[in-house]
Amino acid sequence: MAVTNFQKLSAWQVMQDAPVIPVIVLHDVAHAVPMARALVAGGIRMLEVTLRTPQALACIQAIAREVPGAVVGAGTVRNPADAAAAAKAGAQFAVSPGYTRALGQACRDQGLPLLPGVATGSEIMRAQEDGYTELKFFPALQAGGAAMLKAWAGPFFDVKFCPTGGVTPTNAAEFLALPNVACVGGSWLVPADALAQGDWTRIEALAREAAQMARPHMKS
Ligand code: 3PG
Repeated sequence: MAVTNFQKLSAWQVMQDAPVIPVIVLHDVAHAVPMARALVAGGIRMLEVTLRTPQALACIQAIAREVPGAVVGAGTVRNPADAAAAAKAGAQFAVSPGYTRALGQACRDQGLPLLPGVATGSEIMRAQEDGYTELKFFPALQAGGAAMLKAWAGPFFDVKFCPTGGVTPTNAAEFLALPNVACVGGSWLVPADALAQGDWTRIEALAREAAQMARPHMKS
């Protein structure tokens, strides 16, 4: 599937592309392109670069321009200004730690598919009111983990989740085995020390391992 050719990417396409969405924190623009190439080489194309550092937008721009096999998105998008800056930098999707109606509207205005963060039933209901059915469960482990997702599967039978926060290679399978989980998010694919050392081989290997994780409920 040539994801980079999508005229209009959807949140569902972001979630279904691979079992793991890497949550990336970059402090050096020089790391962005080789890191993205390593992730793509390992089979991970949907890349969430968090807006947590002064370099984040420049990193998104570099990946968008120079790594055609990647689909770069912005994470930690918290308000309309973040959404506008992310879109301007070339982000193709947005991920947020929570949800507000203003943020949803801004992302729609910018043409950015949004994975809104939720941690309670009321937050799910507010996001659903605005048309969102693909949601990030954040912080997943701290907010109830797999047991919470099992409880939500009843009342929120029409929602698919991307649990993020505290997900590791060890517990990812437990989340991915749930019918209402499409993928997970996690920072382990891009360790800070691998970035500092320019160890792209290690990042590629971590991506390859993540790309091969089983999703028994997802149609391939
Ligand atoms: C974050 O906010 O950094 C993400 O949720 C990733 O969390 P993790 O480091 O626990 O994977």
